[in-house]
Amino acid sequence: MVEQGEVIIQLENVYKIFGPQPRGRAFDLVKAGYGKDAVLQRSGHVVGLNDVDFGVKKGEIFVVMGLSGSGKSTAIRTVNKLHDITSGHVWVDGTDVQTLDGPELQAFRREKMGMVFQHFALFPHRNVIDNVGYGLKIQKVDKTKRDEASIKALSLVGLEPYAFNATQELSGGMQQRVGLARALAADPDILLMDEAFSALDPLIRRQMQDEMMDIQNELHKTILFITHDLNEALRIGDRVCIMKDGAVVQIGTPEEILTKPATGYVAEFVQDVDQGRVIEVREIMKEPDPLQRNVSLTDALVAIGDRAGKFVVDENGRPTGLLTLSDGTRVATLGSGDFASALRQDFDKTSPTATLNEVYAAAGRGLPIAVVNEAGELIGNLDPRHIMEEMGRVESLIDMYEREVFM
Ligand SMILES: Nc1ncnc2c1ncn2[C@@H]1O[C@H](COP(=O)(O)OP(=O)(O)O)[C@@H](O)[C@H]1O
Ligand SMILES: [Mg+2]
Repeated sequence: MVEQGEVIIQLENVYKIFGPQPRGRAFDLVKAGYGKDAVLQRSGHVVGLNDVDFGVKKGEIFVVMGLSGSGKSTAIRTVNKLHDITSGHVWVDGTDVQTLDGPELQAFRREKMGMVFQHFALFPHRNVIDNVGYGLKIQKVDKTKRDEASIKALSLVGLEPYAFNATQELSGGMQQRVGLARALAADPDILLMDEAFSALDPLIRRQMQDEMMDIQNELHKTILFITHDLNEALRIGDRVCIMKDGAVVQIGTPEEILTKPATGYVAEFVQDVDQGRVIEVREIMKEPDPLQRNVSLTDALVAIGDRAGKFVVDENGRPTGLLTLSDGTRVATLGSGDFASALRQDFDKTSPTATLNEVYAAAGRGLPIAVVNEAGELIGNLDPRHIMEEMGRVESLIDMYEREVFM
């Protein structure tokens, strides 16, 4: 058994070259230091992985992040030998994965790891519980035990009430949760997740990230998580590995990546995060949930809940007024109780794809910002506190780094 914190997955000088003669001239060129583009030009072969070396420790969330085509999927696929490699070793819990074949390989995949992919194929004609228990069925686990494990996995992802629903009845986010439950059902030590949340709407995606981290706090799996989104990587990763053109550029904690970028390439990415340029409004806005016009001011204040304020919309769904908690409370204490007189019209509007940088100044007014689509309809409520939190998180990381350096 591997102790917590010990390396459980190790890629060791792994090369993967795609093409008819992977070990021929292309491999020589890569070894001689030619990059992906040069190798393609000179040999017609594609460099998938170029001397990749990383270790994933037991119990951590290790995130591999890079642009499309950087080799992330190729890397994760070496761990369960969906790909043969050109050179190097892949170790999982002491086993040299490349030496496995046939039934031995199948047993290894089944027992050691669960997988979740971006486009998770559920069986449309089976209900949720049977989808979750499918892997166990293949393993010939009897139905009672299978259902027990499936219900447990479904409760982890909050879908227990849907166990007997048809999968088509579920939203995209819920289907992805079924995928996660399926991976968890066999209780494997390792989860391999390749862009598992990338197809989801930003709001749902954040919820899934949070839920996954909650599940992780409870179960302490080893998670190898792939994403092309640096924000997601920094948010959920204990450590982050940045790849470019099939090679590892940097491995570090989110703090290290942000504050000590190893190369100009990483620095450029980080600069974007740093300045709130890559975080878009739609990622942190809340559902619009507008106020009903016909309720009393008191009820409206209750409806605001823990938000800074809520909007009212016209018959076309366009925001026409904003009720903040402080305005509403003031008018209520004056005793007029008049909803309309508590509304303000001087609120800011933004688009869902605006970056946090662009709304930073408006957020300084402390008022909720109306997020509207091209038709002017209210599609989100952006709380200034969330903008500050999101940007402050990065700033505090940098403060921490500076204290370390200058003390
Ligand atoms: N089966 C394959 N045949 C040929 N080239 C491939 C194959 N799979 C991946 N590649 C290439 O390998 C590189 C890395 O791909 P991939 O690992 O899928 O990237 P990522 O997951 O980071 O988007 C890309 O240039 C891709 O075109
Ligand atoms: Mg991929």
